[in-house]
Amino acid sequence: MKPTCITSWTISCGADAERSYRESIFSIGNGYMGTRGFRPDERGQHAAWRSTFLAGFYEYIRTGITDLVNQPDFSAMVLRLNGEDTGCMRVVDFAQSLDMRNGLLEWQFALESSDGLKTQIKMEKFISMASRHVAALRLSVIPDNWSGSLHLETGIDASVQNLPIADNQLQGNSEFVQMWDVPEIYPIDGGALLTAKTLPSRRSVSMAYALNADESIELIEEDFSVSSVLVTTLECGMCWQVEKVVAVASYRDGDSEAIARSELECIRYESFDQLLGRSEKAWSKLWETSDVVLEGNETWQGAARYNIFQLLQAVPKDDPHASIGARGLTHGRYKGCYFWDAEIFMLPMFTMTQPKMARDLLLYRYNTLPDALESAKSFSAKGARYSWMASDTGFEQCETWDTGCCEIHITADVAFAFGEYAASTGDDHFLSRYGAEVYIQTARYWVDRFNYSAKEDRYHILFVKGPDEYCGVTSNDFYTVSMAQQNLHLAIDAVSEMKQHWPDEWEDLSSRIAFNDDEIDVWQDIANKSVLLFDEERNLWIQDETFEYMEPLDIEKEKDGDKPLYFKIAYDRLQRYQVLKQPAVLMYMALRPDDFSKDEIEAAWDYYEPKTLHDSTLSFGIHALVASRLGKISDAIRYLEKSLFLDLFDVMENTAHEGVHMASLGATWQALIFGFGGLSHNGKHFSVVNRLPEQLYTMRYRFFFKGEQYEAEIRQGTDPVVRMIV
Ligand code: BGC
Repeated sequence: MKPTCITSWTISCGADAERSYRESIFSIGNGYMGTRGFRPDERGQHAAWRSTFLAGFYEYIRTGITDLVNQPDFSAMVLRLNGEDTGCMRVVDFAQSLDMRNGLLEWQFALESSDGLKTQIKMEKFISMASRHVAALRLSVIPDNWSGSLHLETGIDASVQNLPIADNQLQGNSEFVQMWDVPEIYPIDGGALLTAKTLPSRRSVSMAYALNADESIELIEEDFSVSSVLVTTLECGMCWQVEKVVAVASYRDGDSEAIARSELECIRYESFDQLLGRSEKAWSKLWETSDVVLEGNETWQGAARYNIFQLLQAVPKDDPHASIGARGLTHGRYKGCYFWDAEIFMLPMFTMTQPKMARDLLLYRYNTLPDALESAKSFSAKGARYSWMASDTGFEQCETWDTGCCEIHITADVAFAFGEYAASTGDDHFLSRYGAEVYIQTARYWVDRFNYSAKEDRYHILFVKGPDEYCGVTSNDFYTVSMAQQNLHLAIDAVSEMKQHWPDEWEDLSSRIAFNDDEIDVWQDIANKSVLLFDEERNLWIQDETFEYMEPLDIEKEKDGDKPLYFKIAYDRLQRYQVLKQPAVLMYMALRPDDFSKDEIEAAWDYYEPKTLHDSTLSFGIHALVASRLGKISDAIRYLEKSLFLDLFDVMENTAHEGVHMASLGATWQALIFGFGGLSHNGKHFSVVNRLPEQLYTMRYRFFFKGEQYEAEIRQGTDPVVRMIV
């Protein structure tokens, strides 16, 4: 458990919290850029740890494989007080805190020099939610018991590197990749502009900065960095301050240099407080619709907001060519790739509270449909095959054979997410413009991916890995088959809706994709005759063909707290025990609860939950959701707390070295709103029931349904009150 203090709107830590853990949980961003919470003047970690990322900015590290590029560091700072480097001074009374109302990150501490000089320091930093290209920093220094010189160097440092991490969670890496060529540097009023280009493909980033200071500034250019040097004399007890404004643009925006220059021009004379004020306004607009108010437990309240905060600052805004990676912009783990995490775990919060953002996330998938079509061909399949791991390219980024080739449910997950978005928003054009094409092309993939057995007149999915990645490579995985069936139904329904409501668009689409009416019969046949394993006697849906042949494992004996068991038992061996890494049958039941009787879900819970290791952070929130729907209150609370505090308390001991777990944040939101908050819908109507646990006396949240906004208020012992916001 980490020594983190959580209030309803703030998160803070002292020096007793490990540095890399703080750097992860204090990651800040605005969906366009994100940076880890490292102290600007602190050195000592390698250049791949001082990470700043831009959404969608990837580069090739070998043929066909990309990595999310670690961007130049715009907060780098060297500070000397009376000639001594602050990085070497003793730090006392250290506190790092984050204000979730405006995204302001703050470090406050005192420094003691070798000869007893004491100085109070405050560093503040935020990435603007009002203007995607903008970040700002402020340094305040008060000498407690001395007067003397201050020397500050700060600018842009492109001497950063990438440390691509293998997909295999056990494999560390020590091979740094130099992404940046020697940058170009131009002095500008009060600062400088640096443009760097990646070595392989010449993808550019430009960062322009200016200091708002009274002192004169000298510019130092080095091979990979530029900094402004400012020297002044401090007086004992007097506060000295300097502010730095930064504008960032990349090749993804167009002419990065021109954009960075003009963005800086716009903010050059604005103060830190003015810029922060504008960012706070933008944040409050986001909070107005996405906040979840939990009265009765302040720690839960703050943690719930933290989960939402991290999602809101990870989602690209008005950018339909990027999505949210497994660690957002907080770490380069998984090469920054996009998984089903985005569509199945994170998307519901956006669909229900920020539908435009949800739409853009889905458009990323629509825009990579050509790659998915191409990708299917490379697997000798028809239609569109979405990749288990994707980046700015939709081509497969997963380099582990069994996962990359066999965890194919992602294709149906994408289609499912399109369907859920369309059903709850009532966004009419979505189907005709994007949805129908995605449903049909993905359905065509399933036609090819099922194997028909003429002997049985049944369709099987062979060589498949389900969401429980400890299932090995198996057959007829329940989750994958069920999701593929959904995908086929979405395609069937789309064709009839298109014919009925969008005849002109249908004519265009059907001829563009050479649609043939006979395809519908094939889809229907597969949906009807694909194999799902059910044991009548136990009223139990079986995960896959091999699950029941596995050896049992004494989980209690083997598992050490919440740390994943793959650290102790080889992945290969785990795949032959009858244990689950994360929910699979229950995962599908979490998504489609109305397709099952309560008894079926109970039976699945009783069978699978005790066998689940929760070795993926995606597991806890989904168990909390299912348990709360089943009325298993103590299980629901136990799982919710794991998910709610997953990163804040580093439950799985991997937040420090892997960043913030985006899917878990989304699962937490689903557990809160669809579970305890009782919200559900069937595509036509929504309903809200009261499942409030005794830890809370009120819960309030807003959501959109069919274009209207509502607020639900749930109090102990009364029926929920839902009102429309006009
Ligand atoms: C999980 C996957 C998940 C991936 C990225 C893996 O450990 O098993 O379900 O998509 O992490 O978060």
